Formats: sequence, structure tokens, C-alpha cells
Amino acid sequence: ESKFAENFWLFGYGSLIWKPPPHFDKRVPGFIEGYVRRFWQASEDHRGTPNAPGRVVTLIDHNHWMTLSAHDLHKSTTSTKVWGAAYHIPPQHVAEVREYLDIREINGYSIQYTPFHPTDSSSPPIHCLVYIGLPDNPQFLGAQEPEALANHILRSSGPSGANKEYLYMLETALDGLSMDSGDEHVSDLARRCRRLEGVDVDDTTETRKE
Ligand code: BEZ
Repeated sequence: ESKFAENFWLFGYGSLIWKPPPHFDKRVPGFIEGYVRRFWQASEDHRGTPNAPGRVVTLIDHNHWMTLSAHDLHKSTTSTKVWGAAYHIPPQHVAEVREYLDIREINGYSIQYTPFHPTDSSSPPIHCLVYIGLPDNPQFLGAQEPEALANHILRSSGPSGANKEYLYMLETALDGLSMDSGDEHVSDLARRCRRLEGVDVDDTTETRKE
């Protein structure tokens, strides 16, 4: 237990990239492998409400990904690399951070462990904890049609703010990680949202009143 606490690393692939945990002493950009990031998780507690859940990212593991039909995938994602940031939590703060995350991420996320590869490839992989919304959790939605998803994100907001802000912050944070850390699913959705906002602002306002 104490041995583990000394080496507690957490991988963030969503809001954790730009909103770090309450205590950390190292932040390392890099990626994990064998997963695909998708906005397929409903958020009732951060970017939506129980009556009008927003949409946030989860990771689809490679085995599940392979079971999906081409129709569900929309774009031929061949890469199962997920860029993000790993945080080292100082031993004296591990319990507090885990509690904070359990509160923050309780909305359907489970714990997995996976090797993390720092951008600096001379550094060895790091054993990291990652929170994943698995397909059997009640908030998991499965494949979403991108244009409908973009519209849904534009209409949603929750206690942490507007859902579109989460999307735009994620896009910006990913671009800042390394030279090739962009995620086509994320930037495609962000482009759709910007276009929808620019083209029909009134419609967005109208829908929000619902
Ligand atoms: C993340 O940033 O990695 C994350 C945030 C909330 C829930 C799950 C993961």
C-alpha cells in the first residue's frame, strides 16, 4: 500500500489535461496505447444535468473497438494511441486525491491500469491509473452520429460549465501536448460546433431555453 502510494501516477485524457488534480509534483505529456477516445459518455454531474445530460469523453478499448461496425466508426481511426498527461501525486496526498477523484468522477467511471509512454521516448513507460467509462456503465452511450453529437454538446451545460467549453478546452489542451497529439474525433466535433455556432446562433439560444 505505502509502496504503491509512493508511485501513484494518474493518466488524464479529458478534463484532467487542463484541470489538474489538487496535488501533483510532476506532469508529463505522452500517450497510452490500445484505446480510442470518444465523446460517448453522458455527463449528469459536470457538463449536463440528470434531466439533460451532456457529453464527455471516455476510452474505448481495442477489443471493444474491433466489435464496432464501420457505420458506427464514421471515420477510419486506425490509431489506438490516446494522448494526455500523466500526473505524479506526492505520497502524502494520494488518499486525498483519490477521494477527490472518486467524488469528481463517480458518474460511471471505473479504474484501470495501463502503461503510459512519455513524449520523451528516452523515458521508460510509467504504470498509470486511468478512469474509464466502460460500456456496461449506465452513462455509456455507444456510438454517436457526429453532427447530432455536436448539436447536443452545443445545447448542454452543467455545474462545471458549458459542454462546448469542455470540447474546446480539450482540443486546445491536446494541441499543447506535443507536435502530433491532436485527436481527429475531437477536432472534427470542435469544427462542427464552431460552424453550427457561427451559422445559427439564434437556433442555439432557442434550444437552450427548452
Ligand atoms: C480524465 O481527464 O482523464 C478524466 C476525467 C474525468 C473522468 C474520467 C477521466
